[in-house]
Amino acid sequence: MNRPRERRAGRAVAVAAPWFCLTALAGICLTALAAGCQNGATDAATRTASWPADCRSLARPDSLGMDGAREAHRRAARRHELRLREAAAPGSFLRGVRGAIEPERMASGGVCLADIADWGELVFEHEYGFADGLGGGDGASSPRGPFRRVHEGLFGGPETISCASCHWVGGPHGAGAETDNAILIGDGDRVGSGDARNPQALLGLGVVQALAREMTSELQRRRAELTSGGAGAEVRLVTKGVDFGVLRLAADGTVDTSGVRGIDADLVVKPFGWKGNFAEIADFAADALQVHLGVQSERLGVASEDEIGAAAFTALVAHLALLELPIVAPLVQKHDLGPAATGLIAPTTSSFAEDFARGRQIFHEIGCAGCHVPMMVLEEPNLTLDGLPEIDLATSMREPALRSDEALGGYPVWLFSDLKRHDMGEGNAARHPQRGVPRRDYMTPRLWGVADSAPYLHDGRAPSFDYAIGGHDGEAAAARAAFTELSREAQGSLRVYLMSLRRESRLIVP
Ligand code: HEC
Ligand code: HEC
Repeated sequence: MNRPRERRAGRAVAVAAPWFCLTALAGICLTALAAGCQNGATDAATRTASWPADCRSLARPDSLGMDGAREAHRRAARRHELRLREAAAPGSFLRGVRGAIEPERMASGGVCLADIADWGELVFEHEYGFADGLGGGDGASSPRGPFRRVHEGLFGGPETISCASCHWVGGPHGAGAETDNAILIGDGDRVGSGDARNPQALLGLGVVQALAREMTSELQRRRAELTSGGAGAEVRLVTKGVDFGVLRLAADGTVDTSGVRGIDADLVVKPFGWKGNFAEIADFAADALQVHLGVQSERLGVASEDEIGAAAFTALVAHLALLELPIVAPLVQKHDLGPAATGLIAPTTSSFAEDFARGRQIFHEIGCAGCHVPMMVLEEPNLTLDGLPEIDLATSMREPALRSDEALGGYPVWLFSDLKRHDMGEGNAARHPQRGVPRRDYMTPRLWGVADSAPYLHDGRAPSFDYAIGGHDGEAAAARAAFTELSREAQGSLRVYLMSLRRESRLIVP
C-alpha cells in the first residue's frame, strides 16, 4: 500500500525462509538453490561474485518458428496457471517467491541469470491484489475502490493492477495507449491538476543504463580535470559526441555550473522517464510499483514495509535490464508491389528501400539527428545492478542483443537519442517541475522502436509522426519548420524511415 516516501541508504537483508518449489505451478524449480545459503550478502560480495558456470542462455527459440510458437504457448499456459493459484490462494505468488529465493544467494552468484530474469518477467506480468499490498491505505475496504485516476503528489494513484496493463502497445513491455496515461503530481482528483504522461516502451533498458553510466563517468572525469586547473579554467563537457556545455572554475575555487546544459549540476546522465529524472532502472521500478500499484519495495523505505520482497524486486529489475533491443528494418521488397490483400489497390511506391535511404538522409539534413543521435558506441557492455553479480550484456541479454563492431571499438547502439534534456517550449510545458526538472525540459526520447509505440509525445497527444513533429517547439522549432517545408514525397520518405525503427516480430499467445 502507498506510504509517504523517504529514500534510505543501504539495503535490507531478508531473512532466510523455507524452500519452496514452484515447479508444479510455474515450471521453475528453486529447490536446487537451497544448498549453502548465507545471510548478509554485502555489496562488496556482489562486486566480486560471478555467475554459475552451467546456466542456460536467455535466448528464446527462433521467434517465428514452431519452437517459438510452443514457447509462447508454454508462457501463456504458465500465466493462466498462476492466475488460478492466485484465485485459490491470494498472494501465493509473491509469498512463494519470497519464501523460495534468497536475495543473498542471488547476490553471491548462486543463481542463474536466466532463471532470475524469468521470475522477473512473472513479477512484471503479475496482477497485484490486496494480499500483495495493492492500494492506498484503506483501499481494500473503501467503497470507492482502491484506485485514484489522478496521482496525489509523488504519492501516486494507484491506477491499476499490473505493469503489463500500461506497457503493452507494440508487444510485451511495450508502450501505452493515451487511455493508459498516468496523471502525475496532481491533487488526487482533478485531471487538470496533474501532468499527463504516456507510458514508454521498455526496450533495451540495461543497454541504456550502461551507456548513460559511461557518459556520466566521462563527465565526472572532466570535472576532476577542472578542479586540478587554476581559477578561470574551463572544460567542455562532451561525451560520446554530445555537448553538455561548459564547466568553469570560479576565482574562489568553486565550480561554476551555470554553463552546463541538458543535465543536472551533478553531471549524472539520467536517461529514464520523459523528463530524464532517474539514472537507474531500479529507481524507476521502485517508483512505478509505488505510484501505479501502491506496492512498497525496500528501495523506497523501511524494510518492514517491503511488500514485494527483495528477491522479487531484484528479479524484476534484472528482467527489465535484459529486455531486447529494437531493430532498424526497412521494408526491402521487389519493385512491383502487389495489393496488400485481394481486392485492394496496389501501392504506387515501387520500393520502400529507396524511401528509407532518402528518409535517413533527410533525418540528418533537417536536424532531427542533432538530438535523436542515431547511434552511440557502448565501450564496455557491463552492467551493475544492486543485489546481483555484474552482468555482461554482450553475452546475456534477450535477442535482438548487442553485437560488437571492432571498427567502432565497441558495441553500436542504435538508440536515436542524445540522452540529454532539451527545452521544448511553452507549448510542451508541464504544470509542475518534476523532481527538479524544469517545466519545459524533456529528455530526447529514444526513437528506436518508434513504429510500434504510438501515440507519441510525453502526454500521448500525438496520434501520428506528423503530429509529433508538429509538437516540437523551443530548441526543436527549427527542425519542425524544416519538416513543414519538405515536399510531400520527402515527408513520405521520412515517415517510411521512422516506420522502419521497430521491434522484431514474434509470436505471442495472449
Ligand atoms: C498507469 C500506467 C503504468 C503502469 C501500471 C506502469 N507504468 Fe511504467 N511508465 C508509465 C508512464 C506514464 C511512464 C513514463 C513516466 C515518466 O516519464 O514520468 C512509464 C515509464 C516507465 C519506465 C521508464 C522507461 C524509460 O525508458 O524511461 C520504466 C522502467 C517503467 N515504466 C517500469 C514499470 C514497471 C516495472 C511497472 C510495474 C511495477 C510499470 N512501469 C507500471 C506508466 C505505467
Ligand atoms: C532539440 C532536440 C530535438 C530535435 C532537433 C528533434 N527532436 Fe524529436 N523529440 C525531442 C524531444 C525532447 C521529444 C519529446 C518531446 C515531448 O514529448 O514533449 C521528441 C519527440 C519526438 C517524437 C515522439 C517520440 C515518442 O516516443 O513519442 C518523434 C517521432 C520525434 N521526436 C521525431 C523527430 C524528428 C523527425 C525530428 C526532425 C524533424 C526531430 N524529432 C527533431 C527532441 C528533438
